[in-house]
Amino acid sequence: MASKSALSFHVKAECKVSKARVGLMKLPHYEVKTPVFMPVGTQGTMKGLLPDQLESLDCEIILGNTYHLGNRPGTDVLTKAGGLHKFMGWNRALLTDSGGFQMVSLLKLAEITEEGVKFRSPYDNSEIMLTPEKSIEIQNCIGADIIMQLDDVVQTTFQDYDRIKEATERTSRWLDRCLKAHKRPTEQNIFPIVQGLLNKELRTQSAKDHMSKDVNGFAIGGLSGGESKDDFWPMVSLSTGILDKNKPRYLMGVGVAIDLVICVALGVDMFDCVFPTRTARFGCALVSKGQLNLKQKQYEADLNPIDKDCECSTCKNYTRAYLHGIVTVETVACHLLSVHNIAYQMGLMKSMRSHIENGTFPEFVKNFVSEYYPDGN
Ligand code: GUN
Ligand code: ZN
Repeated sequence: MASKSALSFHVKAECKVSKARVGLMKLPHYEVKTPVFMPVGTQGTMKGLLPDQLESLDCEIILGNTYHLGNRPGTDVLTKAGGLHKFMGWNRALLTDSGGFQMVSLLKLAEITEEGVKFRSPYDNSEIMLTPEKSIEIQNCIGADIIMQLDDVVQTTFQDYDRIKEATERTSRWLDRCLKAHKRPTEQNIFPIVQGLLNKELRTQSAKDHMSKDVNGFAIGGLSGGESKDDFWPMVSLSTGILDKNKPRYLMGVGVAIDLVICVALGVDMFDCVFPTRTARFGCALVSKGQLNLKQKQYEADLNPIDKDCECSTCKNYTRAYLHGIVTVETVACHLLSVHNIAYQMGLMKSMRSHIENGTFPEFVKNFVSEYYPDGN
């Protein structure tokens, strides 16, 4: 362990039946209670929410994106501003993803070689090469508490074994290049990303490779691409079974409630996803049974709040009928729904933490699953 570390993780309580645990992750900008959900901001903003609102919703850590921020405002402005925390007015913890995933998933035009990921900028069509070194250089400027290695990402449902093997092994080689390029190890933590898609041997190898490195936490990647839950959950379990129990484990790109509950039981500590804020922009509110689409006519005269048990300011002040009336015409509807959806995610995580601490997590999971799947499937 490095003498001055940018992260300490303390497991406070463990479930006796599952791998769920409650922890405290001390980062340079904030002490984060885990399991935690991290909302995603892309351009240094959270779509639909301000930093003050995120704080009052009890968000302790949020996500930013290297690829977008590296383009706009760019590293010169970020360095001059003293990093993203100051630039965007967010004082708590931050995590940045390394950029490659967004290019592969957004652009589909990216070409991956041993050197890095080559793509055309959607801003000015110029050719850009994102190497492991470049990704870390940008992330060092952004200054997030946790930064991600550049990984070689393949679509989850992709079947070609040779390509999956190449990507998995390349991810390990790129990790070494990222660790070597990292200039701020006492202020920022690099997390490796376990790849291997749905292949047990490759995923095991990837987790074991990463375990041999001097790092303070791990991410599990390659698992949010539309594969079935029967394929996805066992891969999470396999990964958490290998990764160090005393370090935080972050499952990337996962944020639907049922996955949060099952994956907490499988020993995951951190999650991120655009889902709650994106679905808010489409007029959907998260509730324990799934979602309410407030555009539907059935809510036209419904004077109930989205959820009568929710403590958020949207549920305290507005009805479904009010939201139905403004949802397609007013941007304020998107703000109100984002407040509720983030409150929902935060409430779910908080409730899991307290059930784990009180020894009642197994009953909680049972009840949650039966409410989510009322027909037993
Ligand atoms: N976000 C969701 N999945 C992934 C992944 O596999 N790699 C990276 N870098 N980001 C992700
Ligand atoms: Zn609410």
